[in-house]
Amino acid sequence: MSSSPPSASPRAPLTPAHILVVGGGARENALAWALGRCPGVERVWVAPGNGGTAEVEGCEQLAVAESDGEGLLAAARERGVELVVVGPEAPLAAGLADALRAAGLAVFGPGADGARLEASKRWAKDLMVEAGVPTAGHWCVQSVAEGLAALERWGQPLVVKADGLASGKGVAVPDTLQECRQAIAEAFDGRFGAAATTVVLEERLEGPEVSVFALSDGERLVLLPPAQDHKRVGEGDTGPNTGGMGAYAPAPLLDAAGLEEARRLVLEPTLAALRQRGIDYRGVIYAGLMLTAAGPKVIEFNCRFGDPECEALMPLLGPELAAVLQACATGDLPQAPPLTIQPGCSACVIAAAAGYPGTPRSGDRLEGRPEARPWRQLFHAGTRRRADGACETSGGRVLALVAQAEEFDTAFARAYEGLAQVRFAGMHYRRDIGHQVRRRGQ
Ligand code: AMP
Ligand code: GLY
Repeated sequence: MSSSPPSASPRAPLTPAHILVVGGGARENALAWALGRCPGVERVWVAPGNGGTAEVEGCEQLAVAESDGEGLLAAARERGVELVVVGPEAPLAAGLADALRAAGLAVFGPGADGARLEASKRWAKDLMVEAGVPTAGHWCVQSVAEGLAALERWGQPLVVKADGLASGKGVAVPDTLQECRQAIAEAFDGRFGAAATTVVLEERLEGPEVSVFALSDGERLVLLPPAQDHKRVGEGDTGPNTGGMGAYAPAPLLDAAGLEEARRLVLEPTLAALRQRGIDYRGVIYAGLMLTAAGPKVIEFNCRFGDPECEALMPLLGPELAAVLQACATGDLPQAPPLTIQPGCSACVIAAAAGYPGTPRSGDRLEGRPEARPWRQLFHAGTRRRADGACETSGGRVLALVAQAEEFDTAFARAYEGLAQVRFAGMHYRRDIGHQVRRRGQ
């Protein structure tokens, strides 16, 4: 652990001076902020960014969609970009990293082959079974009849998952057999986005969930502090699932020994299995773990940083981050300095728009801003600039308020204090984020 502030360090070897971050959420806002702080980084472009990216010091917004591979390549070439960091899963699954790499750019983010870890639950389950990675027992079914037959044989409600990407809405966790039958029928009927052709049924596990992120250069891994997300929209973990309403790190649920166990049981065998399949995975392996009575088990893999976990994590990472991501992108982690982790706790609370997680309302004007403090960050997500320069809502999750302190109580108090200084019509947020680690209430 190092307590030196980022600016005290000299420029690390291999630090890219010009970086392009692809994506437009609070995750990308946080990545751009953290990379822009690394000594030696001169400019960070964010495409397409959001209403807040241009306010990040050293950052510029580029009006190029994350799905526009040719536009991104042209923009990167024109600006002398040395490293591209791809935030979201959809462009990774569509092969953006492959296209940019083929054109000679260093890219942090797996190719379409590795992104299947997230883009196909069936593929990921096969890989886990092959690699002996602990996960829930499962059945892949191709029709409602096949699904119902598997359910009757099992005799207890199963978790129902669409095989492909579904923007976080591809999972049903039914409580009864009847609800489960209905979920199977709905999964084949388009409830999980496009009507599924393959559905994964999974044994239901019990236990707290924790998110573990490993940075991979294709051969080696660097693990980040574990983080905890809050998926439900309502306080007390009630109501429908969301993309995530808040997070904190490091999650004490997984101490140093637990993290090493996760490395040994989950991340190393997964990377080895990817390599065995000829996949040179350069990016984040995100393991969503459930800590069951029988040990940690993988609930899901993602091929990117978690959102909002990334927002909580970035302020804890040292000034070597840009060099470390660059070394992952070039397949040469030993070239990078060790990534230091700042001591202390980081808390993130998400403010969402009216209607979220259903259809969110757009166009509500943002007012106020948190007082500037070295230990607090405001990251934008679903926001955009109006012609008059004002900022308005344009998505479900609108803002991430992040703060650090020695203890979680203070970190959360600082985050909530910052949130109280911002307003927009319909704004809602959970007041109990971090209840697992706070001694006092809000
Ligand atoms: P996912 O979209 O894969 O992150 O799943 C959404 C949520 O469903 C997870 O965060 C878990 O809370 C829950 N879930 C997924 N798989 C299981 C399982 N096998 N057992 C219990 N809960 C699960
Ligand atoms: N925070 C959950 C996710 O990014 O999928």
